Amino acid sequence: MSKDETEKKIIYSEELTSNDLEDSKILATTVQKLEQENQIIAKTLARLEEESSLLRELFNNANTELNNLKKPALLVADVISLHDDKSVIKLPNGNKFYCYIAKEVKDLQSGDCVLVDQKTLNIVKKVNVSSNLEVEKFVIVEKPPESWKEIGGLKKEVAEIKEVIELPITKPKLFEKVGITPPKGILLFGPPGTGKTLLAKAVAHSTNATFIEVVGSELVQKFIGEGAKLVKDIFILAKSKAPAIIFIDEIDALAAVRMDTGTSGEREVNRTFMQLLAEVDGFDPLGNVKVIGATNRLDILDPAIIRPGRLDRLIEIGIPDEDGRLEIFKVHTRKMNLQKVSVKAVVKAMENFTGAEIRAACTEAGFFAIREDREYVTQNDFQQAIEKVRLEEEDNVKDEFFG
Ligand SMILES: Nc1ncnc2c1ncn2[C@@H]1O[C@H](COP(=O)(O)OP(=O)(O)O)[C@@H](O)[C@H]1O
Ligand SMILES: [Mg+2]
Repeated sequence: MSKDETEKKIIYSEELTSNDLEDSKILATTVQKLEQENQIIAKTLARLEEESSLLRELFNNANTELNNLKKPALLVADVISLHDDKSVIKLPNGNKFYCYIAKEVKDLQSGDCVLVDQKTLNIVKKVNVSSNLEVEKFVIVEKPPESWKEIGGLKKEVAEIKEVIELPITKPKLFEKVGITPPKGILLFGPPGTGKTLLAKAVAHSTNATFIEVVGSELVQKFIGEGAKLVKDIFILAKSKAPAIIFIDEIDALAAVRMDTGTSGEREVNRTFMQLLAEVDGFDPLGNVKVIGATNRLDILDPAIIRPGRLDRLIEIGIPDEDGRLEIFKVHTRKMNLQKVSVKAVVKAMENFTGAEIRAACTEAGFFAIREDREYVTQNDFQQAIEKVRLEEEDNVKDEFFG
């Protein structure tokens, strides 16, 4: 500060009266107070703005909810076929309609489940769940990865299955031209572990069909009072996912010759079985749904299920002979690292083994190698493994006899 300025200031302050000083002090505190107040108001304003935006959001939510509540429900329907921007749909009551597909709905396929407007029946949305079919919770629905290559031996049986299941699905026209109707289904019978399930999966794989697996005993035990409805729904499901293979394992649990005890359980099983017969009778042999039954109790099977026009092709899947065992062994050792193994001797030692037991022996042999810290499997590993599988098998047989 220059000397002049300092002097000016002093002169100026000297001019002020004490009253003026007092006034300016009051003014300063007032300004301070007002500033504080201003700050408080600003804070309150910010809070109110926040609150208001919250309330606005709440209101909007409530409003959309209200609007949603006012909207009419949409019908659930199945797509039967597609024609450019139109589609034939089927309502749950069975009626079919030709309707328009909204532009936003993309990648529709026949068999898809869609939501349609109640009045116009136009498709407004695609949903991923399949319609009213609770049955999907009870059955296994899949596209199995098992191909024919996974099956060892069973050449004749595979050829027959290809002819009566695969060919009608892949080339139905051929059958029409020749003028014969293929069987609607087949029955695979034979001891457990011989590859019945595997065969059914392989044919589903080769025809790119949906594989729907039901176990007969579960159908009658777990879903008491619902068996018949489930059977019905399984066929509806199969048609909506066609091409499809319905695989009924342990079909004897449904279709055992009745003892006429007349208990309610018996009647229930009977109803379920009757429904199964009705469904099999009702579908088109040239359509792309096929039924494969499997049992290891052909002796107790009700012949009604194997009458002509039903599962009238019986294919026996037996215990493999030596050649069969060799083929199965090859399948299961394809990825294994074998050293100095006489395949012939091993296969000979597996006398009477089923496919499942051969697989078990191969896995066990691998474990014997791992236990000895080896990365390859030897003849001796196989010998021990075969021994072990055979002992387990005998134990199982004993258990079955003596419970
Ligand atoms: N012929 C076969 N070729 C290859 N593997 C087999 C064969 N038979 C059975 N297996 C093996 O045993 C397993 C069980 O067979 P599975 O098809 O369930 O028998 P099943 O239904 O007749 O009781 C199969 O997953 C497969 O690994
Ligand atoms: Mg099986």
